[in-house]
Amino acid sequence: MLLGIDLGTTGVKLLVISENGDVLFKHFESYKLYVPKSGWVEEKPREWWKAILKSLKSATSALGPKAKDITAMALSGQMHTSVFLDRNGEVIRPAILWSDTRTFDQRKEIENHVGKTILLEKVQNLPLEGFTAPKILWLKENEPENYSKIWKILLPKDYINYKLTGKVFTEYTDASGTALFDVIHRMWSEEVIEKIGLAYDHFPEVVDSTAVIGKISKDIARETGINPNCVVVAGGADNACGATGAGVVKDGQVLVSIGSSGVVLIPTNDPDKRDPAGRLHFFNHTTGKWYNMAVTLSAGLSLKWFKENFCQEEIKDNRKENTIYDVLIKKAKDVPATSEGLLFLPYLNGERTPHMNAKIRGLFANVSIRHTKAHFIRSILEGVAYSLRDCVETMKEQGMKVEKVRVVGGGAKSKLWLQIVSDVLKVGIETLKTNEGPAFGAALIAGVGCGLYRNIGDAADTTVKISESTLPTENTQKYDQVYKLYKEFYESTHVLMEKSFDIGMK
Ligand code: XUL
Repeated sequence: MLLGIDLGTTGVKLLVISENGDVLFKHFESYKLYVPKSGWVEEKPREWWKAILKSLKSATSALGPKAKDITAMALSGQMHTSVFLDRNGEVIRPAILWSDTRTFDQRKEIENHVGKTILLEKVQNLPLEGFTAPKILWLKENEPENYSKIWKILLPKDYINYKLTGKVFTEYTDASGTALFDVIHRMWSEEVIEKIGLAYDHFPEVVDSTAVIGKISKDIARETGINPNCVVVAGGADNACGATGAGVVKDGQVLVSIGSSGVVLIPTNDPDKRDPAGRLHFFNHTTGKWYNMAVTLSAGLSLKWFKENFCQEEIKDNRKENTIYDVLIKKAKDVPATSEGLLFLPYLNGERTPHMNAKIRGLFANVSIRHTKAHFIRSILEGVAYSLRDCVETMKEQGMKVEKVRVVGGGAKSKLWLQIVSDVLKVGIETLKTNEGPAFGAALIAGVGCGLYRNIGDAADTTVKISESTLPTENTQKYDQVYKLYKEFYESTHVLMEKSFDIGMK
């Protein structure tokens, strides 16, 4: 049996799977997200660790004596988030999350000081607010005392691996999200680290995703009931693990993920196949090759925001959290495609692809007296699909082909949303039998690390199965027209939004 854990933004998801990919046990444990100021988002690594221990214990007690057959484990984790450790291996301050945008000035500072050309040449990515590099610079400039205590800076799942094994490592897929790592040559960029004024020795050694980093420590084995011979494999960044678990591991395949954020991800064997302007992220994949990735920041998050603020009645009537989205989406079903004019731009928290603009915000346009809650829900589903189309178009501009996509994430559970995405992207869509996300990919990585599968491709071929296909309908034409308008709305309003942000209307 293999164990995969995703250390996500809202909690830990643990999966135990069999060799052929059947899910034998799963568990979710949430933790707190702290928002001490507008734009700041933090979590406490010790709370992650507690949730991990609890999840491991729940797996061993549910599996009973069979738990000893868990031979390997690996973690997937939220990318970019920074964990600062002191000489004793203790956490110095709360971790600064990928979704934290306090780093607006540091992002600009790095871009101006190092220069976009050098950044794109040496680390192949521009350091957005969410990336690790501006977070470390923020700490240096704003909390020098904390900065001076640093021994190592780790990514979230690497911190957990350290707690499990006592070993300090990272691996390529997560290192590539720091904007300090030469993704093509697979090494820390001394030049960029030095130019930003950071310290090279703060960063851990980098290994392959599938490398075994050690065994679970005896104390942790005793405390959790996990077999002390269980090996811990390096694991990967959540997007790389999500793609691995969906079997999107070969050059040219396309993954669309509709989770809190939305992602379009295309693996490539050719490191020169990337956006010269840096609008796409270019990261290392678990296969040893690479992928291009486009991100829309508020996908499922847009619907969650609407639910929490405007659907109290529906929540009350449907106490079970997992049915509430079905109820809301059902309302949207009877609204005609393009929502009778109502148009939503999902920039609730700024946007990455293609605008790379942290100062813009969401917009409902053309609101009329005719529109009901159902129209607003449908327009959110459509707005997210338009922003995924923006991602796809940016990738097509670089010669990437998008003819068929695999869709994963919470959004893939809704037939209506899948149909809208298929119509807006004008492509056929496949969904998977097991939609368990990055934790599933992490379990496959564990399987490669312990020699159960020959490589990542073999692991995916053995375990990933397609369940359904969705094809575009005649609505594509209507959506095509409105997509053009959607783009014009951004062009015509972003200056106003930036001005609003600058005068404090954030
Ligand atoms: C990727 C990104 C997010 C986090 C979420 O660039 O910021 O997808 O990895 O965990």
